[in-house]
Amino acid sequence: MSKILVTGGAGFIGSNFVLDWRAASSQAVVNVDALTYAGNLENLSSLADDPDHIFVQADIADSERISTLLQQHQPSAVVHFAAESHVDRSIHGPEAFIQTNIVGTFRLLEAVRSYWSSLAAERKSSFRYLHVSTDEVYGSLAPSAAAFTEKHTYEPNSPYSASKAASDHLVRAYHHTYGLPTLTTNCSNNYGPYHFPEKLIPLMIVNALAGKHLPVYGDGMQIRDWLYVKDHCSAIRRVLEAGRPGEVYNIGGWNEKPNIEIVKTICALLDELRPRADGKSYSTQITYVQDRPGHDRRYAIDASKIHQELGWKPADTFDSGIRKTVQWYLDNPDWVAHVQSGSYRDWLQKQYKDAA
Ligand code: NAD
Ligand code: TYD
Repeated sequence: MSKILVTGGAGFIGSNFVLDWRAASSQAVVNVDALTYAGNLENLSSLADDPDHIFVQADIADSERISTLLQQHQPSAVVHFAAESHVDRSIHGPEAFIQTNIVGTFRLLEAVRSYWSSLAAERKSSFRYLHVSTDEVYGSLAPSAAAFTEKHTYEPNSPYSASKAASDHLVRAYHHTYGLPTLTTNCSNNYGPYHFPEKLIPLMIVNALAGKHLPVYGDGMQIRDWLYVKDHCSAIRRVLEAGRPGEVYNIGGWNEKPNIEIVKTICALLDELRPRADGKSYSTQITYVQDRPGHDRRYAIDASKIHQELGWKPADTFDSGIRKTVQWYLDNPDWVAHVQSGSYRDWLQKQYKDAA
């Protein structure tokens, strides 16, 4: 039985994908992750006794190492999650984003191209390289503009989205020029278990429980389309199974919401599930703080193509997904405590000063 190779499988979405893959498939996973601040082997602790989860700590930009792994494990597919993923960090320090998202993706593509070229005809034609990307490459939408389709122009506005856009273009070129059987997915904002608490939803949950401020940028009316992470994973599995090489598939939850509504929903759920000792609502902790520079106002995904071509749609609604997510954070205080290391505290200090 052949294997798949996943990059970034110790991060938020990658670890959810690996866990779901091992639950749903008999194919083994080679999980390649550099274990940056965002990578966490604790996410994968339930696979500790699974011989078909092979973890390798390596950088995707280490061509020799990646080539050796490809030769050694002979995967039938590569699913590429590894990235620097946080917009605010890309504003403070863009270089790591250029290095991993652009140079890293380029080196990975080169290693994969060389491996794929050496395969026998049948394995060569069934091989797939799936590139996991974001809706942020399309830029910001006006309030009444139609949602992003796969044909929308690329207008990335942050160093993060620009680096992801560059990597998408490289993937496109490797298909067009070399015939590499690539698939690209552009997904909206994810939320769910194992989400590092520097992103909106987990930050609000852990800050609320710690009695801290809930820092809402600007007027809180920026709109994102939110998708439960397990639905993103099922979409990736479906694209891998039936997507057409060279194609792009947008993935979203048909679920646009302004940030302030997200934060108030989290507060209401916590009021119900873990009421504050003083009987007040967690919403009293909401604090409006200085806006993010260049903050995109609205993202919205048109996920018609993946629905019509591949029959995929999300299983969770926002109501069911956010309830499960809040409950997961309540049930996993040890995971939360372990990720709140010195470097996490340094980040809060740098980004929020006294606000968080
Ligand atoms: P994350 O930051 O939680 O995880 C990234 C993982 O990649 C970490 O485990 C990290 O250790 C690893 N990594 C970083 N640099 C590496 C390198 N040079 N070599 C090997 N591993 C490295 O990110 P995430 O939220 O899980 O996002 C995963 C992918 O999905 C990214 O490509 C991101 O752009 C994309 N995406 C994310 C979202 C979202 O809402 N989080 C939405 C759409 C697309
Ligand atoms: P984030 O989770 O960083 O995802 P992205 O910027 O990739 O969409 O942020 C989601 C939204 O929440 C975004 O509009 C910025 C906003 N936000 C806040 O208002 N306060 C915060 O502390 C954070 C981290 C984000």
